[in-house]
Amino acid sequence: MRPEVIHVSLGNAQTIPIWFASLTELPSYCESVDLRIGPCILITDTNLVPLYLDQVKTSLLDSGWGPTTEIIIPSGEASKSADVLQSIYDQTLQSGLDRQTPIFALGGGVIGDLAGFAAATLLRGLPLVHLPTSLIAQVDSSIGGKTGINHRIGKNLIGAFYQPHLVLTDLDLLQSLPELEWTSGLAEVVKHGFIADADFFTYLSSNWDAILQRDNEQVQRMVIHAARIKASIVSKDEKESSLRAILNFGHTFAHSIERVAGYGQFTHGEAVALGMRAATKVSSLIHPNLPHHLIDSFLLKLPVRNSIGDISIDALIQAMYYDKKVMAGQLRLILIRDIGDAYVHDQVSEDLIAQGWESIMQS
Ligand code: GLY
Repeated sequence: MRPEVIHVSLGNAQTIPIWFASLTELPSYCESVDLRIGPCILITDTNLVPLYLDQVKTSLLDSGWGPTTEIIIPSGEASKSADVLQSIYDQTLQSGLDRQTPIFALGGGVIGDLAGFAAATLLRGLPLVHLPTSLIAQVDSSIGGKTGINHRIGKNLIGAFYQPHLVLTDLDLLQSLPELEWTSGLAEVVKHGFIADADFFTYLSSNWDAILQRDNEQVQRMVIHAARIKASIVSKDEKESSLRAILNFGHTFAHSIERVAGYGQFTHGEAVALGMRAATKVSSLIHPNLPHHLIDSFLLKLPVRNSIGDISIDALIQAMYYDKKVMAGQLRLILIRDIGDAYVHDQVSEDLIAQGWESIMQS
């Protein structure tokens, strides 16, 4: 494909380019944002090493970069921990870095969040380049500067907003994603339509079979459009003082499912798909004209698990209070008035929330 670019424009005239191009072109995109050619740190996970590490390393070395410090993290959410972060600090500090040594985060959401937080905190900030490999990372987590790790009390509770110099997104990588990662990632893509762009939802509905089969042309169109929606929301509200919160549609329910079922039992995307159905149900109780069944039946077409089974609703509701969005002990939920029209609701009653949970107990 011909390279394409979109930008996140931030208040202080800072602009972050998101390039859609081949990973092998990394050196020239680094040059375009004035990164210093020289030593660099590459952080990736065990699953990605055989797929992409050599390719990225060779393209860097061939263009005069190096030496490279490679840090390989066990794949999976458990790596977003203080212990793994500490091991990154140990390895990078021993490698003799300085403030111009960039970190390349090659991976999905876990690697982006973890390597991003390391970049934010090492020497009070190193240049960061995201090389997102998963669908969720390409349309969501690599865009907007959220970085961090989990705490046993909840997900993403320790972190910082830290913008990358550059995001380089290679759409071809999506063709080799395992099926469950692909279908789970689609949940975040669909979310962008529900919260901000009814036409995008219509497009997804009309092209759903081709998208499920990863037709190249539709994948390109879909990912670039979804990334554009995310970039536009972040450009309006980088630090989530208001609008950006709508990106959490379905996520308070999803985080609760992941926590109560045990991390790893549901993929994040599966939990988000279920969470969006519960949030849609709650929305429909407040906005009776919402086309609830249209949304619900579309989400049921995602080939992922479509019920939470026999988990206690009380436990799920209690877990919702650990969410970062709880304010003064009051649950805040993202609801939708209509497709493409999301907002923050500060005072949803537990009775309505319980009805949301009940709607996804059985398939
Ligand atoms: N993934 C939600 C956000 O970036 O705000």
